[in-house]
Amino acid sequence: FILLAGTANPGLANAIAQELGVQLGACVTERFPDGEVAVQLLESVRHKTVFIVQSTSPPVNDHLVELLAFADACRRAAASQIVAIVPYFGYARSDKRHGRREPISASMVAELIQVVGINQVITLDLHAPQIEGFFRIPVDSLTAVPTFCEALRDRLPPDLVVVSPDIGRLEMATHYAQQLNTSAIVLHKQRKSGTETEVTRVIGDVRDRPCLIIDDMISTGGTIARGIEALLNAGARAEMTVAATHGLFVKNARAKLAHGSIRAIFVSDSVSPSDLDWPQLHVVSIAP
Ligand code: R5P
Repeated sequence: FILLAGTANPGLANAIAQELGVQLGACVTERFPDGEVAVQLLESVRHKTVFIVQSTSPPVNDHLVELLAFADACRRAAASQIVAIVPYFGYARSDKRHGRREPISASMVAELIQVVGINQVITLDLHAPQIEGFFRIPVDSLTAVPTFCEALRDRLPPDLVVVSPDIGRLEMATHYAQQLNTSAIVLHKQRKSGTETEVTRVIGDVRDRPCLIIDDMISTGGTIARGIEALLNAGARAEMTVAATHGLFVKNARAKLAHGSIRAIFVSDSVSPSDLDWPQLHVVSIAP
């Protein structure tokens, strides 16, 4: 087999190659001044299984097209199997229509992935598990929860409660709670607009307890910031730890997360860390 790295996350691709004791396959990606992406394989992939490591993280469209271009190049060069390792799957939040004239972009991306000849997808903590149903090829949907629990176990205060920031993440919160031997509660999050949400209710008792807020992703940081406010208003101790599989940290996320109560933020390396000079931020590798 050959392991190829797109440009989204070379650090993770290198870490996977190291785990496997192999060299990354030789390839190049160029961006033309008009924004087009050009890729080239610099070694034969004929009759080989090719694994392409490429999160479709921001800039999502560039990284997605690069993944598709690599797959197209592999298919035309007679690869026998093309496996896309897409730890962060962009557009996953567009998994249904909201009754208006909208696309289901996660389904559209699934179609594109299949059209270019990708035979299998490996992904991590997919925003909604039902996205797997948009594919007719095998999708291995892995979870980083055990890896996070291993990293967190000795660093959490006693009497901790796991917090799901919305109803959609309750199952994940329950898995965290089971593995950390504690309980989970849930916030009732409502969307005020396309970019603004509010927490209308804390469902569960958090009085005088430190919290571990979990999520599949941190994008702008708004969900976590609103969650912390609601938890503190409900009497939680000002001792918050955050664990989210995908740390996108777009826009002014770091400023939103500069809350005095946050002791630590754990993310995985599914997305290239954009800000390494952030003492609260811990990156847990999912390469193994
Ligand atoms: C929402 O359903 C997701 O699970 C995340 O909670 C959300 O996308 C995080 O985005 P942000 O950091 O911009 O609030």
